[in-house]
Amino acid sequence: MRGLADLLGIRLPIVQAPMAGVSTPALAAAVSNAGGLGSIAVGSADVEATRRLIRETRALTGRPFNLNLFCHRPPRRDPAREARWLETLAPRFRSFGAEPPARLAEVYRTFVGDEAMLALLLEERPPVVSFHFGPPPRAAADALRAAGVRLLASATNLDEARALEAAGADAIVAQGYEAGGHRGVSDPDAPDDRLGTLALTRLLAARCQVPVIAAGGIMDGAGIAAALALGAGAAQLGTAFVGCPESSADAAYRAALASPAAAHTVMTRLISGRPARCLQNRFTELAAAVDEGTLPDYPLAYAAGKALATAARAAGETGFSAQWAGQGAPLARFLPAAELVAALEDERRRA
Ligand SMILES: Cc1cc2nc3c(=O)[nH]c(=O)nc-3n(C[C@H](O)[C@H](O)[C@H](O)COP(=O)(O)O)c2cc1C
Repeated sequence: MRGLADLLGIRLPIVQAPMAGVSTPALAAAVSNAGGLGSIAVGSADVEATRRLIRETRALTGRPFNLNLFCHRPPRRDPAREARWLETLAPRFRSFGAEPPARLAEVYRTFVGDEAMLALLLEERPPVVSFHFGPPPRAAADALRAAGVRLLASATNLDEARALEAAGADAIVAQGYEAGGHRGVSDPDAPDDRLGTLALTRLLAARCQVPVIAAGGIMDGAGIAAALALGAGAAQLGTAFVGCPESSADAAYRAALASPAAAHTVMTRLISGRPARCLQNRFTELAAAVDEGTLPDYPLAYAAGKALATAARAAGETGFSAQWAGQGAPLARFLPAAELVAALEDERRRA
């Protein structure tokens, strides 16, 4: 553990996962102030919004924190495919008194080739930057490391981990199939061995040259202790932090997590165009009737999914919202982040 703790400047082996749409500067700062590594996710933010988020986080903590970016391949535009998907969803939109959008926007940016974002990061120098959906360009990684920024990136198998090491990652997040939210696969169309957190963490800890952070289904100190016993330097928890008052999860999401619905999560591309684990809901029910291979690319499908969720919510139906959650969701707690971190550490010591 000391290696990773020193690398990241943290006291506890706990990383609060970056969660686009859910994590906030207040959540990240509370976790960092409590001795873990808090994270903000800026996948949907432009350069100026990212600058504001960094400064807001810095105003709340003097401790290291992590800023997360997406490195997905830009979507292939396929007007026929996009029109077919919107046509499929049209009856759902109409049932909420709305129409599908005329065109699908790229609602999440990729960091690959985003020189303006790189320039901002070099200027603001967040202590840690993490990447999802594949490696950053080597030159960008080199420039960030030269500026003293530590780099993390998610892998779901050994090949991805090796590619991330080669790209300059200082530590690898081993994201098991249990994990909530988007699977960090580099190529969503490649065969997926769906490795679980236990097998993947051990494999990467045994084969990688850099420290490993275990992620997926870890909800308490016993889970963190298990990850450390497998050779991880820390555990990254997402779902465990969704219920914190500092997160921006809405009331329906919190209620679903607190209900028996938390026992049922599904991995689906339906909502965004990439595989992601979500609480089973009215949206995920559509999966049975849809060939996921026919969806528009991420994040174009996500634009449709977000529009449908918004139309549904306006009509009082929350069952089309993306309620990302991992398989440990029934163990979710609803504590202030500082209290949750203290409880996690206490449980870990007792385990
Ligand atoms: C609500 C939610 C949103 C997420 N968004 C992101 C994100 O923006 N970037 C990222 O790298 N990972 C994201 N993830 C995945 C986490 O980094 C992590 O792999 C996952 O939360 C671990 O599994 P757990 O939720 O079972 O703890 C998200 C997870 C959740 C639950």
